[in-house]
Amino acid sequence: MTTWASKAFLLLLLMSLSSLLYYCAFNQPLHPQKHQADVPPRNLSILLWHWPFGRSYSLNGDKCLELYNISRCLLTDNTSAHRTADVIVFHHQELMKRLSLLPDKRPSSQHWVWMSMEPPAHLGNLTQLNGIFNWTMSYRLDADIHVPYGMTVAGGDARGSQPPPNSSCLASWVVSNYQAAQARAAFYQSLKTYIPIKVYGRWNQKYLSQRRLLPTIGNCLFYLSFENSQAKDYISEKLWRNAFEAGVVPVVLGPDRETYEALAPPGSFIHVADFKSPADLAAHIKEVAADRRAYERYFQWRQTHRIKTYTDWRERLCQICIKYRSLAAHKVYHDLQGWTKGGQV
Ligand SMILES: *[C@@H]1O[C@H](CO)[C@@H](O)[C@H](O)[C@H]1NC(C)=O
Ligand SMILES: *[C@@H]1O[C@H](CO)[C@@H](O)[C@H](O)[C@H]1NC(C)=O
Ligand SMILES: *[C@@H]1O[C@H](CO)[C@@H](O)[C@H](O)[C@H]1NC(C)=O
Ligand SMILES: *[C@@H]1O[C@H](CO)[C@@H](O)[C@H](O)[C@H]1NC(C)=O
Ligand SMILES: *[C@@H]1O[C@H](CO)[C@@H](O)[C@H](O)[C@H]1NC(C)=O
Ligand SMILES: *[C@@H]1O[C@H](CO)[C@@H](O)[C@H](O)[C@H]1NC(C)=O
Repeated sequence: MTTWASKAFLLLLLMSLSSLLYYCAFNQPLHPQKHQADVPPRNLSILLWHWPFGRSYSLNGDKCLELYNISRCLLTDNTSAHRTADVIVFHHQELMKRLSLLPDKRPSSQHWVWMSMEPPAHLGNLTQLNGIFNWTMSYRLDADIHVPYGMTVAGGDARGSQPPPNSSCLASWVVSNYQAAQARAAFYQSLKTYIPIKVYGRWNQKYLSQRRLLPTIGNCLFYLSFENSQAKDYISEKLWRNAFEAGVVPVVLGPDRETYEALAPPGSFIHVADFKSPADLAAHIKEVAADRRAYERYFQWRQTHRIKTYTDWRERLCQICIKYRSLAAHKVYHDLQGWTKGGQV
């Protein structure tokens, strides 16, 4: 086999293995007792301490069952449930603002979860959170409850395999928090001297509403899925939603190629590290744009794979119940700061 073919084979093998693992993890019974008939199934109660970024959703009724077909998993945001909840989830940003408002007593069987979707550069000093939390919930693969921005799943969609029609716009980028010191800023500044890039977002006052975001990105052949910082496993909605849901080819800058290969659909992206310089990358982009067949190759994965994105916090919270029985019953994050930076618990 050529190296290319063996690489592709390995990738396929990896993908099917991970779907199998996913299937097993998500289909295991919540209550695997031997005498299930004797033991009435217990509901798990998950308390969300504050809504992330102040945006709340309805938790009335049995939302995990209604929305995601996950049974015996009751979500609440009523903080007076803190004495009885099985799990309390603390979202990082609000937690840091109101540390003093942590529940006073905690039942010995209760688990506290630290939740964040941000990379370490955006978390600040976490040392004051050491020794408080039992589980973590984040995009990190080694989090106790892994909640990625998106994932690759098996099963194609013939309709989705059609690349967008040819377009006069080559590439676009949406950026709000532009900082000259970021790797992506330097890369963009160089890349734009070789190819035209349409830039949107708060940075240059070309704000795009949620409604206009994907159609606007979908007008160009390529999208710069440039992460705000390079961190282990950190691949955000800039890839999953902005590029893949808009149906264009992502040019990625974030973790290394191996991470993207493990998580993104096979052959779906252009990694900046594959090129000696922004000039070489620009040349490749122009070449692909001028060659319909080369461009279409970046869409082949859509015949065999789909992506799934997570946007609703409720879906993330319901994942706790799926994982609950398999999580370490007794665990404490003594060095949360170290863990977020890739180190030990
Ligand atoms: C679990 O919650 C559901 C939905 O609220 C409720 O109908 C059911 O009676 C509860 N089961 C137990 C064992 O508490
Ligand atoms: C919901 O989950 C149950 C098993 O937990 C399964 O038997 C059923 O088919 C699922 N329903 C839907 C609509 O997916
Ligand atoms: C929260 O729960 C307490 C105790 O069960 C109840 O008295 C209160 O009305 C609830 N608050 C809301 C907003 O539902
Ligand atoms: C983090 O905060 C702790 C306590 O507030 C302080 O002692 C420590 O010096 C800070 N570390 C850094 C790197 O800022
Ligand atoms: C775009 O159109 C040009 C001119 O017709 C063609 O050569 C090129 O292959 C097309 N590119 C894509 C990506 O469709
Ligand atoms: C969770 O962490 C706390 C704080 O370190 C600890 O006291 C408690 O025993 C842990 N809970 C469980 C169920 O292990």
